[in-house]
Amino acid sequence: MHTYKIAVISGDGIGTEVVPAAIEVLDKVARLDGGFQFQWTYFPWGCDYYLEHGEMMPEDGLETLKQFDQIFLGAVGMPELVPDHISLWGLLIKIRRGLKQSINVRPAKLLAGLESPLKNPENFDITVVRENSEGEYSDSGGRMHSGADEIAIQNAVFTRKSTERAMRYAFEIAKNSRNHVTSATKSNGLTYSMPFWDEVFNEVKEDYPEIDTAVNHIDALAAFFVMKPQAFDVIVASNLFGDILTDLGGAIMGSIGIAPAANLNIEREYPSMFEPVHGSAPDIAGKGIANPIGQIWTGKMMLDFLGHHEAGTRVLDAIEKTLASGIKTGDIGGSSTLAEVKEAIKQNL
Ligand code: NAD
Ligand code: IPM
Ligand code: MN
Repeated sequence: MHTYKIAVISGDGIGTEVVPAAIEVLDKVARLDGGFQFQWTYFPWGCDYYLEHGEMMPEDGLETLKQFDQIFLGAVGMPELVPDHISLWGLLIKIRRGLKQSINVRPAKLLAGLESPLKNPENFDITVVRENSEGEYSDSGGRMHSGADEIAIQNAVFTRKSTERAMRYAFEIAKNSRNHVTSATKSNGLTYSMPFWDEVFNEVKEDYPEIDTAVNHIDALAAFFVMKPQAFDVIVASNLFGDILTDLGGAIMGSIGIAPAANLNIEREYPSMFEPVHGSAPDIAGKGIANPIGQIWTGKMMLDFLGHHEAGTRVLDAIEKTLASGIKTGDIGGSSTLAEVKEAIKQNL
């Protein structure tokens, strides 16, 4: 039997509630499968750790993580205690960049038993491929002057290597989907980054003549998510555009508490990190009412990445069966607790 060594960082807020629930589900599906098991190693890194140690993770944290097969993370951030740019750049973004998890895959599709806020949600099934290492998220910039003359500059950095990598990944997964890739651009307003993005997209698509393509400005694309999400198969987007689009993806599924994500090191040189789209939700933390489905579906993405597709399908089927039976948390119109949803999903595996 194969044992996977997984580093667990529950993080902050509801991360500490949804991660243990997802681990119970993953342990059970592994037992049922019989062919593999997980060995979980817990790291208490996050905002409490910062308040005690002055850093979000130890200096050798990345080296420690490299010894694991994969990383399972909840959420990071307690903005009332630690400024977000410190907590996120000290842990989440540090891991994404340090372990070269340059692709973030974020599906959005309507699950059985879920009510979308859209008027016409039938059959949408979208995969957003988000460039995960650079773009608008850069540490290049600065602040100068003061008072009425103060200026803040944040540079966006687009390298050919990372842009092309994200686009090629989108085309590759489209081959196993519905053969369509949409590029999210904004080359009407941005004068360097997005014209470059468009150029690279036009070059890359030449290598995939069997794949149909579309190009949409991100503003229009966001509107199409609401009006006709069925128009999309795979979407490739920059770091910031992909970030915004995937909270919207969660919302049209019914709640961002459902949306899963995978930060992939596609070269498999370092561990990948599985972490849902949502954050630490300080407004509902500690109440036992958070929706665990985003974290559990994220666990399914980890199973898929490890090659255990049957176990992964079993998890998603159990989620849908649970939703269809009306066992739901408050964010999707139910009144069940996190623990009740988790138990039902385990039963339905
Ligand atoms: P958020 O995703 O934490 O919450 C937004 C809204 O969605 C809140 O009303 C919250 O209650 C609700 N929500 C989120 N997840 C839910 C779930 N599983 N079940 C039910 N409701 C859920 O976003 P935010 O409020 O902008 O950020 C809070 C903190 O989390 C900040 O520090 C932010 O930087 C951080 N954050 C971290 C991550 C991450 O670590 N991956 C992602 C996003 C935000
Ligand atoms: C996400 C989050 C992060 C991001 C934040 C917390 C830095 O919103 O994973 O979607 O923007 O990447
Ligand atoms: Mn986000």
